[in-house]
Formats: sequence, C-alpha cells, structure tokens
Amino acid sequence: MKVLHAAAEVYPLVKTGGLADVLGALPEALIAAGADVRLVLPGLPAILAGVERQRVVCEIGAAFGAGRVTLRLGRLAPGGVAAYVIDAPYLYQRPGNPYLAPDGSEWMDSLQRFGLLGWVAAHLAAGELDPGWTPDVLHAHDWHAAMACAYAACHPGTRAATVYTIHNLAYQGLFPEDDFHLLGLPSRLMVPVGLEFHGQLSFMKAGLKYADRITTVSPNYAREIATEAFGCGLDGVIRARGADVSGILNGVDGTVWNPATDRLIPVPYSAAALGGKALCKAALQHEFGLAVDAGAPLFAVVSRLTSQKGLDLLLDALPALLDFPAAGGPQLAVQGNGDPALEAAFAAAAAMHPGRVAVRLVYDEALAHRMMAGADALLVPSRFEPCGLTQLYALRYGTVPVVRHVGGLADTVVGASEAAVQAGLATGFMFGPATPAALAQALLQAVAAHGQPALWRQLMLRGMAQNFSWASAASQYMALYRDAQQALQAANHL
Ligand code: ADP
Ligand code: GLC
Repeated sequence: MKVLHAAAEVYPLVKTGGLADVLGALPEALIAAGADVRLVLPGLPAILAGVERQRVVCEIGAAFGAGRVTLRLGRLAPGGVAAYVIDAPYLYQRPGNPYLAPDGSEWMDSLQRFGLLGWVAAHLAAGELDPGWTPDVLHAHDWHAAMACAYAACHPGTRAATVYTIHNLAYQGLFPEDDFHLLGLPSRLMVPVGLEFHGQLSFMKAGLKYADRITTVSPNYAREIATEAFGCGLDGVIRARGADVSGILNGVDGTVWNPATDRLIPVPYSAAALGGKALCKAALQHEFGLAVDAGAPLFAVVSRLTSQKGLDLLLDALPALLDFPAAGGPQLAVQGNGDPALEAAFAAAAAMHPGRVAVRLVYDEALAHRMMAGADALLVPSRFEPCGLTQLYALRYGTVPVVRHVGGLADTVVGASEAAVQAGLATGFMFGPATPAALAQALLQAVAAHGQPALWRQLMLRGMAQNFSWASAASQYMALYRDAQQALQAANHL
C-alpha cells in the first residue's frame, strides 16, 4: 500500500499546532504497519532547508503565478520518511508561518500557495510527476491540502483513492468566488453541491465533497460535526456523507513525549520513579517566578491563544481559583501566543498576581516540555476540540488534565466523578457548560483533590498508564485505506 500524505506542516520542521505533530508521527506508524509512505509539502524555508538529501524529481515550470516550480524528493531525517518538496520561491520563500505573515496578517495569496499544494499532490497521485512512484491512496490533511481531492476527482488518469482528514472544521480556506478561475478547475465544480459555500470558494468543501473517505481526529468530534452546534455551517454536507465520515483518535509520539527519556526536562521520571517530577515542578516554579512551594497546586496552560481554546473562561474563573484558601495557594503558569487581546489579558493577570500567576507569550517547543513535566495539572477548557494533543501529553507526564467535556477531550479523559474514582478509572477533571462558573467548579475540585495525596497519586498513575498509541491509529487508517480503495473500484465499475 503506497500512501501519499499532503499537508502544510510537519514536526519538527514547521509547526503551528497539533497538525504538525500528527504529520510527524502518523507516517512512521504507517510504515511500521507495512505501508510505503511519502509526504508532499510546500517548500517553505524551514522545509527546503530541513529535508535532507534532496534530488530534483521534475521541473514543473510556471504554475499558480510562480515562474519556476521544481519538485524535489528527500527525507525528513537520515533514514526517515521520504518527502516531496514543492520548491516555488515566489510563493513559499518568505518569513512568517504557513498561513500568516510576520505581522500576523493572512497571506494574500493563500489560494495560490495551497492550490499548488493540492495540484501537485493530485498530479503525483495520477502518476504524472514521478513515474517511479504512484500512490494507491492520497491522504490530504485540513483545508490546506483539500483541493487535492477536487483535482484528483477531475482527473481521469487518477487511480488513487482519496482520504481527507479534518483536523479543525473551523478553518475552512474561504476565498472570493471570482478567484475560482485561478485553480484551473472546470466551472461545473463552482456550485453549492460542489466548492461554493454561501457565495465563496471553499477549500474545505473540496475534501468534504470529493474525497472517497473523510476522517476526523476523534470519534466524538466526528459525531459533533454532524450537528449544527459544531458543524460550522457544513454539518449538512457532513451528514450527507453518512458512513463515509469516521473518527480515528490521534496518538502520542513516544519518541518525543516520554518523561523517562525526555532530554528537554530537568530530571527524567516515570510512573515507577516519580521523584523527578517534584524537581521538575520546583524548577518550573523558579523559572516562572512563582513561589517555589511543593504543596501549591500548579496549573499550566500550553496553547494557541484563540477563542477555540476557551481561555477567556479561565481568565474569568481566575479569582475563584486564586481565592481558594489552600496552603500556599494555587498557581497558574501560561504558555501561549496568538490573539493579542488574550495575550494582553494574561499579561495583566500575571502583573496583578505576582508569585501566583505567570505567563510566557511565546512559542517554544522546549518550554512546552518543561511545562508538561513541571505542572501538577494541565488546563484545556476548549469550546471545541477536534482531538487535542496536550491533554494526551499531560496524561503521559503524570500531569492531571482539567478539560471540558467536548470533542476529543471527552474521548480521552475520564473525569473524577465519585463512581470513576471508586472504580479507579478517573484520569482528570471534566466540566460541561462553557462557562467560567463550570470551569471554576472543576478547578476547585482539582485543588481539593491535590490536597489528598493518595487520590492525586491514583489519578496521576492511572493517567500515565493510558496508551494512546499511533500504532492503533495506523491500523485503523490502513483498514480505512483499503475501504476507500474498494469504494473507488466499485464506483469506477458502475
Ligand atoms: P491545536 O492543534 O488546536 O493547537 P493540539 O492540542 O492538537 O491543539 O496541539 C497543540 C500542539 O502545539 C502541541 O504539541 C502543543 O505542545 C503545541 N503548542 C501549543 N502552543 C504552544 C506554544 N506556545 N509553544 C510550544 N508549543 C505549543
Ligand atoms: C487541530 C485541532 C486539535 C487536533 C490537531 C491534530 O489543530 O485543533 O484538536 O489535536 O488538529 O489533529
């Protein structure tokens, strides 16, 4: 089974969120499951510089406004996964991230940048750009790669089945209708049952309408996006795909996230030898300028600062948390960046509560590891969460997650209800309504539990024993790829 993954990010070269972690881990897991896997990536500066041993596969020439497009093939690391890199300097050689310029504004030519990604992926799948390797399955991730599914569907030479994974339905890749002609697709696609979405061109719909199979990153989110509340206006389109839509839970890359081997944390530790975690906590408190106090429950946030993540609820719940009359008093350490208003609000909270609240408004991979290791609890109060990876990392690090009962958070954390605690099944704390009061209640429940060392230890150990493995996800994707191939063959037969 040859599988081509198309995506805009891959850890460790380019990462703005969990999408990169998935692309950094899933291909390896699929290879371990017997697949022959390659990636196709836009030639952003870090990708061009980071992909090793590149050779030119073909000169594509001029495309999407770029005067020179060259397709190269290399490896993500020595002996690592093979990756095609689309070298188009006019479109990709710039600072900033895949979606935003350094000043935070969206790139004006995202349609061309990601149109080209989809176009190249589909032509690889048709066997036209690299005759030496034609995939059986083209697997596109998020709206950035979704157009590959439309190009493949329109190309009579394509024999590859297409799979589209929604990592986040809220980001849809919408463009003015008049720009449709830039894609070079037949105009019959620009209709409401095709790529049109309320008078705009939708890249997301290219995946939703034309992929043979659609997945999202947790079973619960797969159910949620078929409802109006979570469907971002596309729930009807998703419902219409019926059983073609399924949820496959993400995993944890144990080569990156494992407290026993993590070189980015001050002292390694494991479930059998937890001593190092207390040292990691003291180091984190010291680093953040918080009171170094083993008894004070230390809550952490590691997150993009966007409304999705519900961190405004935390700002409003903060007084209730900080007033808690506990020894030492609960503490909060926040690592994140994004929305300027949220950044300013967290900075103000830190200024108001020195020694109790501290923030680092930065994107810093190594710091994220120290946070996971040093905190007692990790807060993920999301309004919606397709899967969520930070709560999985927290579980692995014996850092008890406090999460909202939504999306993949509900699939991966067992809230500390009396029954769950009695049965020894609880791994974290859960709240329902997206309100500061509901979050505050969960926070106070966590603070109270932290004051009971035996209970807290039970939660930590149960969490550390969870196994969210990429191997399990990979075997589900392999079954899905076979299913998609059969669906395509059946359709061609008709
Ligand atoms: P999302 O993809 O919606 O941002 P996930 O929980 O799936 O959420 O993945 C987030 C990933 O990004 C995790 O690997 C997390 O550690 C990382 N991350 C988020 N914010 C930061 C930050 N400020 N610095 C470093 N890593 C971060
Ligand atoms: C998205 C989602 C997140 C998910 C990640 C990886 O960024 O917001 O919930 O874990 O993709 O699939």
